[in-house]
Amino acid sequence: MTEQEKSTIRKGDELELTIDSLAYGGRGVARAGNLVIFVKKAIPGQTVRALVYRKKSGYAEARALAVITESPHAVEPPCKHFPTCGGCKVQQLAYDQQVEQKRQQVVAAFRRQAGWTDFDLDEVVPAEQVFNYRNKMEFTISNRPWQVAGAPDLENKNFALGLHIPGRFDKILDINECHLQPQVGNEIINLVRKIVLEQGLKPYDPKTHIGFLRYLALRFTDGAEKVMVNMVTAWENPEALKPVVGALTERFSQIVSIVNNINTRKGDAAYGEKEILLHGDPTIVEHLNDLAFEISANSFFQTNTKQAEKLYAVVLSGAALTGEEVVYDLFCGTGSISLFLARQAKEVYGFELVQSAVEDATRNALTNRITNARFYSAQLDFYFHKTDILKKLPKPDVVVIDPPRMGIHEKLARQLPEMGAQRIIYVSCNPTTQARDSVIVLAGGYRLEKMTIVDMFPHTPHIETVAVFIKN
Ligand SMILES: C[S@@+](CC[C@H](N)C(=O)[O-])C[C@H]1O[C@@H](n2cnc3c(N)ncnc32)[C@H](O)[C@@H]1O
Repeated sequence: MTEQEKSTIRKGDELELTIDSLAYGGRGVARAGNLVIFVKKAIPGQTVRALVYRKKSGYAEARALAVITESPHAVEPPCKHFPTCGGCKVQQLAYDQQVEQKRQQVVAAFRRQAGWTDFDLDEVVPAEQVFNYRNKMEFTISNRPWQVAGAPDLENKNFALGLHIPGRFDKILDINECHLQPQVGNEIINLVRKIVLEQGLKPYDPKTHIGFLRYLALRFTDGAEKVMVNMVTAWENPEALKPVVGALTERFSQIVSIVNNINTRKGDAAYGEKEILLHGDPTIVEHLNDLAFEISANSFFQTNTKQAEKLYAVVLSGAALTGEEVVYDLFCGTGSISLFLARQAKEVYGFELVQSAVEDATRNALTNRITNARFYSAQLDFYFHKTDILKKLPKPDVVVIDPPRMGIHEKLARQLPEMGAQRIIYVSCNPTTQARDSVIVLAGGYRLEKMTIVDMFPHTPHIETVAVFIKN
């Protein structure tokens, strides 16, 4: 391709492109002169024929139409729904390369964002189990199934139980296997589909908002020996769900809880305003090392239990506790990091926005006989500015933060160094916002001691990192 050809790339062009790397988010990256082209459904090492569907001044976006030369890192994806299903974006890329690409993405985010030219990672913790690792899945039930191009006509044109087609709020791919969840989950979704179709229960229509069945959410604990089923419906009618409950409990002794969340709102969310217990217990218990966590259908809990243990071990070692330290755990959720650290610290104070999570954390401390952890309901964007809590609590030696994807509010980022902790440990699920916030922590008088990736999400673009900062 000549320089002139490169500069005249237009929407609608078909190009032959060689993929160098993966961008954060999972698209392949190709270059034509100065133009970066993000290519959907392409992996590093491939040469593909791709259709440009968007052109901006500095970059273009394209979709791979055909592979011209296969990548040396290509593997056979085991899932029959790949690549139509958006759940796994890179199942066709060898796992060691997936981790290597995530490493490069974190390095690029810190070098670009922080102008930190020699930034590098210290440790990468890959997953040992790369399939069947998720302890939670949410499937959507809808009357708008996706017809896969070139596949035989759909048997049922008004029903789907599965996952959203990427970028389509209204179209659901009917699936009967997902390799991210334990095998029992596949048997459950197939039985539920059979029974609800036999019973004539109506799936929800996301456009007209008519229809009863909205989601089927599953939680698996203790290596899928225990299962919680959450049927989310648009209104209350537990009688209608009795045949489903009967069939599930007869077939699966692992099911210890079936709940029905009622979601009357139009928004696309697999939780409800009201919960009805249909079978067994209202909660399910998961273990992380020797700690027990009681989880309700709507609580946040790390979705990969085995890797969560490794993630928390990295946090624990970064905290370098001797038993004398005061620890603050910001964005503590149901308190899992707090409880992990509490046994080796003097005191732990957890702060969290969601009141039910604060209650779960307090209960989890009691269940585990941990008496040196306290939890506070807090909107952390402004909490330490607007309250005098810092005057009331002992000063922290270690501050752990584990915010959502958008990172932390600038006010909180500036406040962190002012707390004066010896160590700040930043757990993140988004390296871009972590890099942005880290610049402020560094400017506040800290240095980065250790940066680790713990891969919690094989075959997906999600990245989890732990940065340990030490006071200069
Ligand atoms: C990534 S989760 C971390 C949970 C916990 N550390 C764990 O490992 O299970 C982020 C948590 O931050 C909470 N959160 C989000 N925005 C918040 C805010 N502005 N103030 C306080 N907590 C917030 C969420 O409710 C969620 O529990």
